[in-house]
Formats: sequence, C-alpha cells, structure tokens
Amino acid sequence: MRIDIITVLPEMFTGLVDCSILKRAQNKNLVEIVLHNLRDYTTNKHRNVDDYPFGGEAGMVLQIEPIDNAISSLKLQREYDEIIYTSPDGEVFNQGIANQMSSYQNIIILCGHYKGIDYRIREHLITREISIGDYVLTGGELAAAVMTDAIVRLIPGAIGDEQSALSDSFQDNLLAPPVYTRPAEYKGWRVPDILLSGHQAKIDDWKLQQSMERTERLRPDLLDKKD
Ligand code: ADE
Repeated sequence: MRIDIITVLPEMFTGLVDCSILKRAQNKNLVEIVLHNLRDYTTNKHRNVDDYPFGGEAGMVLQIEPIDNAISSLKLQREYDEIIYTSPDGEVFNQGIANQMSSYQNIIILCGHYKGIDYRIREHLITREISIGDYVLTGGELAAAVMTDAIVRLIPGAIGDEQSALSDSFQDNLLAPPVYTRPAEYKGWRVPDILLSGHQAKIDDWKLQQSMERTERLRPDLLDKKD
C-alpha cells in the first residue's frame, strides 16, 4: 500500500510515521508513506499557499492551484482508490473505515489547514472527507497521522501476531476484554483465576463475556451496530 500525505507541515509527521509499527511496516515494504510539502507545488515565488477568503471571513484559506498541482501530479503516476480530505465536518473515522482502507493500494490524504481549503477542491477532486471526532484541531495533520496508524496496523504482517489485530476493540463492535501479565498477584491484586486455569475453551468464554459486559457498560451504542 502507498499513502501520499499532502501537508503544509510535513515536519509534524516526524516521529509519528517513523517509529514503532509504522516504521516496521515500511521496513517490511508493506506500506510506503510519502510526505509532500504543499509549498513545493506552488508557482508563487514566496511559496505562499494560502490567501484571504472571498466574502470577508476571518482566517486564511488554502489555495486551489497548489493543491490541484499536487493531486494531479500524483494521479499522473498511479491510480488512487481514494483522495481523502481531513476535516471536522467529514464522516467520522472508525474501525470499519480503517479496515476498508487497509485493503486499498493507493490513497492520498490531504491535510486541511487554517480556515479550510478552497471548496472547489472538495467539490471536484476529493472523493472522501474524514473527521477523527467532533472537535476542531489546528490542522488535519494529526488526523492524517491517526488514520495512517489505524490503517497500517491492519495490513496483514504489520503486527507480529495477526491475531492481535483481529482481537482489537471495535473489530467486532465489541470492546476488547481485559489483559494481564505476570506477576499473577501484586500487592494482593490477583489476576482472574480463570486465566491461570489452562482451560482454553473456558478462557475464551470468559473473554467473550467480559467483552460483552464491558461493551454494555461502557459503549452500549456499539451493540446496536452489531449484526
Ligand atoms: N481538522 C481539524 N479538526 C479535524 C478533525 N476533528 N478531524 C479531521 N480533521 C480535522
């Protein structure tokens, strides 16, 4: 998979896309994450990529030309499954969307900034608009990083033990069961006996019960989505 990220702040991704699972997935050639500085696509000699909005609103708007140049030059090189714009008014990102996108070959993520981008980009070039939650960030960079992380960890082979992605919270619209490790007792706080019993079928049963109980208590809305 290839993820092209178009941003005015490529430096914000340093340390996010080059460590841990994202780094390993790139080293294993499971994913290529390519950052593009939007300023490299402007013909403006001062490398400005924003301008005042028509109609007198406060704030600056990213211009159409550098964004069109960036997207067009990428589209000349390969086909994209989706051209995504990160925006608080987009469809709210979730595990289902991450699953779907992890099967794609190529995606572009355009990070919004300032007051937004010239709306014609959204009308003519963007295929999907995604929000990571009902709050406003300074820009779309953190949203792009969150999406990239959630997507890449689902690519087969990205996580050592593939089971561990399948048993994530939300994967089945259920929260994951609690996990414990050694020591079995600490300050008198004991790990549930069932987990030490060695009875795998009973342990699996317990985990499912725990998942159901935690979901009912903490995220009952997820049970409505369960088929
Ligand atoms: N840009 C600003 N806020 C955002 C959000 N919540 N999700 C995606 N992009 C954003």
